Amino acid sequence: MSRPPLGGFFDGHAPTWDDCQTPGLHEAIGRIFAAASFRPGLRVLDVGAGTGVLYPHFQAAGAGDYTAVDISPEMVRQFRAKHPEARILESDYEQPISFPGLFDAVMIFNAFPHFRNEETVFRLTHSYLSPGGRLFICHSMNREALNEHHRNAGGVVSEDILISDERIAGHYRKAGFVSIKVENADCFFSEGTKPPHA
Ligand SMILES: C[S@@+](CC[C@H](N)C(=O)[O-])C[C@H]1O[C@@H](n2cnc3c(N)ncnc32)[C@H](O)[C@@H]1O
Repeated sequence: MSRPPLGGFFDGHAPTWDDCQTPGLHEAIGRIFAAASFRPGLRVLDVGAGTGVLYPHFQAAGAGDYTAVDISPEMVRQFRAKHPEARILESDYEQPISFPGLFDAVMIFNAFPHFRNEETVFRLTHSYLSPGGRLFICHSMNREALNEHHRNAGGVVSEDILISDERIAGHYRKAGFVSIKVENADCFFSEGTKPPHA
């Protein structure tokens, strides 16, 4: 059965979203960035960026060019108020987006279970990456904690569960990614690389 559309769910939460930014969240992001080992100068895309929790982390990692995307007008408004110098598009990432150039890294952080068509997200992301570029799907919690968190939240996100490691790896493979890694430990980390000659 198909899940209900998100509607204004994230718009409603945007004004108080940053109240949930605990030191633990930033520690988890630190561990994820360490595992990703971004080199300076990368062109990065932050998908489902919300109010921009990752933006300072990408700056600290020396990202050369940063673009964010979010579907929620209110999240985008909060993002722009906090980071007026950063580029954010108000767009549905499940629909094709015409970006001016390719990206070296695409990060979907704390957002993947909210997509309704996972296969489309992988296929489109592959087309937005440069050869050798990497897709990261990561969460500050592990699968068990995250799925419980969504069940407790209820409403339109109650069934937004993080699919199994095997299904995630299968999506990476089907879309053409290689060097796939999926780890569900303290946080959830996954990555895949677009082949250098693709
Ligand atoms: C749980 S929030 C996480 C926000 C941010 N990454 C963070 O960690 O604070 C999920 C975000 O994904 C966005 N989102 C959900 N579906 C989306 C879609 N189809 N296209 C773009 N963004 C989407 C929501 O608007 C929301 O801001």
